[in-house]
Amino acid sequence: MSTGLQTIKDTSAAECVGQSRINREMRFAMMRASDIEQVAAIEADAFPFPWTRGNFLDSLASAYPAWVMRSHDGRLAGYFLLMNAVDELHILNITVRPDLQGTGLGRMLLNKITELAREAGMKSVLLEVRPSNQRALHVYLHVGFEQIGIRKNYYPAGASAREDAIVMRLLLSD
Ligand SMILES: CC(C)(COP(=O)(O)OP(=O)(O)OC[C@H]1O[C@@H](n2cnc3c(N)ncnc32)[C@H](O)[C@@H]1OP(=O)(O)O)[C@@H](O)C(=O)NCCC(=O)NCCS
Repeated sequence: MSTGLQTIKDTSAAECVGQSRINREMRFAMMRASDIEQVAAIEADAFPFPWTRGNFLDSLASAYPAWVMRSHDGRLAGYFLLMNAVDELHILNITVRPDLQGTGLGRMLLNKITELAREAGMKSVLLEVRPSNQRALHVYLHVGFEQIGIRKNYYPAGASAREDAIVMRLLLSD
């Protein structure tokens, strides 16, 4: 798996959303412990049941592949954490900063993930998503993921309630 920095310019997204205030030049770098404070702040804004700083630190300690995406001014725009399982790459967490959601950056993160998966010789990318997370579901279907199963009562849903997870898979062609 490659390391270091990578700059990606996504002009199609810029045309699509017409958001001139967002510079579409994004830099990817592997997540470091020094990123966790900003990552956890975005996480807390983005999810009703966010990962804790400890969850992120544990993931880095376990050497799970984790990346951040920053805009030209260095601000953190999104991140993801992955887990390799033989020939499947599992997405453990994928998040775009809330004020930038819906502007094509989720697709950029997913493109980066599939690029990493191909580099590592993976056959598929897997993820779980809440049925109530309609935006994420639409995005995953949009980029080619298919539903392959349900995990019953997978997620906490408040007041001791639980929510199922939809399991989705993207098959990578050779
Ligand atoms: C889910 C998430 C990562 C998606 O990222 P995003 O930046 O909002 O999504 P994008 O703007 O890149 O959308 C990707 C594509 O899906 C489409 N799309 C987005 N929202 C959509 C919706 N509600 N309905 C239909 N299509 C939609 C977009 O049009 C885009 O297609 P295009 O590239 O052809 O224009 C982001 O919304 C997020 O961080 N949400 C909160 C955290 C979360 O739920 N993470 C996932 C947990 S499983």
